[in-house]
Amino acid sequence: MSAATARAHPNIALVKYWGKRDEELVLPAAGSLSLTLDAFPTTTTVRLDPAAREDSFELNGDPAAPAQTARVGRFLDHVRLRAGSAVSARVSSVNEAPTGAGLASSAAGFAALATAAASAYGLPLDSAGLSRLARRGSGSAARSIVPGLAVWHAGDDETSFAEPIAGPAMRMVIVTVDRSQKPVSSREAMRRTALTSPFHGAWAVSAESSLRAMTAACRAGDFTRVGRIAESNALRMHAVIQSADPPIRYLTARGTAVFDEVEALRREGLEAYATADAGPNVVAIVRPDDADDVAARLAGLGAVQVVGPGPGARLVSQEE
Ligand code: PMV
Repeated sequence: MSAATARAHPNIALVKYWGKRDEELVLPAAGSLSLTLDAFPTTTTVRLDPAAREDSFELNGDPAAPAQTARVGRFLDHVRLRAGSAVSARVSSVNEAPTGAGLASSAAGFAALATAAASAYGLPLDSAGLSRLARRGSGSAARSIVPGLAVWHAGDDETSFAEPIAGPAMRMVIVTVDRSQKPVSSREAMRRTALTSPFHGAWAVSAESSLRAMTAACRAGDFTRVGRIAESNALRMHAVIQSADPPIRYLTARGTAVFDEVEALRREGLEAYATADAGPNVVAIVRPDDADDVAARLAGLGAVQVVGPGPGARLVSQEE
């Protein structure tokens, strides 16, 4: 019986992925760029079980909700199709991030699942191949295959994968203001935004130009430009999300207060920029030397944690 265990870390986007060009293939409307973190890993074991009639999925020691199990099962169907296998699997996952609060736990989850499933089902994939596979589970998972800064090309089914890019040294200060599950999943919110926001087309165009500018800023090692583009891109994403019908607001007053404080820090000469994914929590982007000072200043607004660039998804163990 074949089994494999893999570990992956979440990522925080500096240029956000928001909107799909193809729902089935999970092709993004525009490219994006992120930092894979050195915190909150997900560790996942995929164990093939010829005696099982269907897949099972255990999350943090308990059977997962039916919708989550079904999503894992659909992902494994895709792996089995490619591997020419009909064998079900027992999947167990330990996720060290607060699920559903905008810390991209699905990115780490599907990056770890893709890496473990490819090994257990005998699909020999390189980093680009694993990134393409992880993309089918959750778009942002394509980037968690890659260590540190990763750029995910919009591309087509063959070319839509993430790869590493050089950039300035940075740290992130995660400010957790709310640990509750987000009210609307990013999948549903992306769909609603694309269908109902009058600004969706403009958002996709602006995301592509932000990505070009961000790629250049990263290559130049220009922290200031990276931070400015990231903050503006995050606020544009939240603006397009808020313009959906019915509207969706992920950022709450407590998160907005973090954006205010980051702006105040900049006025004082402490250079920090803010971003937030599809959830209430805010992340400050800082130079390594400023991380502790910024964390101390933001500590009154939520639970703070300093994180840095982390490893790509990797196999932890394997058995035949
Ligand atoms: O991978 P998904 O479908 O959960 O999308 C996540 C999208 C954001 O986190 C909001 C932005 C991003 O680029 O990670």
